[in-house]
Amino acid sequence: MSSKPARIRKAVFPVAGLGTRFLPATKAVPKEMLTVVDRPVIQHVVDEARAAGIEHFVFVTGRNKAVIEDHFDIQYELERTLADRKKTKELDALMADLPVAGQASFTRQQAPLGLGHAVWCARDIIGDEPFALLLPDMLHHGATPCLKDMIEAYGASGGNLIAVAPVPDDQTHQYGIVGVTDAKAKVARITQMVEKPPQGTAPSNLHITGRYILQPEIFDLLAKQEKGAGGEIQLTDSMIRLMSDLGQAFHAVQFDGTIYDCGSKIGFLAANVAYGLERPDLAAGLRAQITRLMK
Ligand code: G1P
Repeated sequence: MSSKPARIRKAVFPVAGLGTRFLPATKAVPKEMLTVVDRPVIQHVVDEARAAGIEHFVFVTGRNKAVIEDHFDIQYELERTLADRKKTKELDALMADLPVAGQASFTRQQAPLGLGHAVWCARDIIGDEPFALLLPDMLHHGATPCLKDMIEAYGASGGNLIAVAPVPDDQTHQYGIVGVTDAKAKVARITQMVEKPPQGTAPSNLHITGRYILQPEIFDLLAKQEKGAGGEIQLTDSMIRLMSDLGQAFHAVQFDGTIYDCGSKIGFLAANVAYGLERPDLAAGLRAQITRLMK
């Protein structure tokens, strides 16, 4: 790259999914608002984006998701009451989480047509600049926030980047899978991508973990994208075109922390235990309860 790649200022959060795997919890409460310890899952992911320097948060929502918008707004009565009761610590913590006015945008995906379609819904808000994409189900827990690592790698490579991590061979069919030039390297050039390959056909065991940096040319490809795996408009299929037809570079960044898939019950429960055990105010009590239950 001759010139410095354009800065990543905006991030897209697709939050329109119905959360059917979590019924009845998600009948009236969006799955993104389920809590890992005392923060909604979506707040953890916004925290990651913010730690990576993101300045504008774009939520692609759907019907019954209005509470997500409320979560990222002021709550006048609550804040007033906390102030009156001199609960300064709680109030400061709430205010620190709040995007500054104008830093959050919300648009609706009107029909559940797939991840590719959800991302396309953000096209006008993103405009003609590269952006980050974070899938809120996947909590990336590590020493450095995953997106921060990726933005650093992007500074050197430019182009498009995807976070990846190894999965057991018998799980590759559940994810997008990439083939790379060097499966051991922290950052490697992507040579192949496939969405949910049938068992035994995956080009590697590196799965797409749900963190992306994408160039805006993806939007025109998404607009024309036909349905793929599962009858949905797949982001991976348009990324393949961006790489093969338009010749744009894609790099894989290996994430070496732990990923909790909060779209699955086990992942969600494990995230609660792991995040709880890291909290100084909860760790000892939680450890005692786990020890008791394991007896
Ligand atoms: C999506 C992506 C897939 C990726 C996965 C990570 O699939 O299409 O490439 O591996 O997220 O969670 P979904 O989980 O929406 O089926």
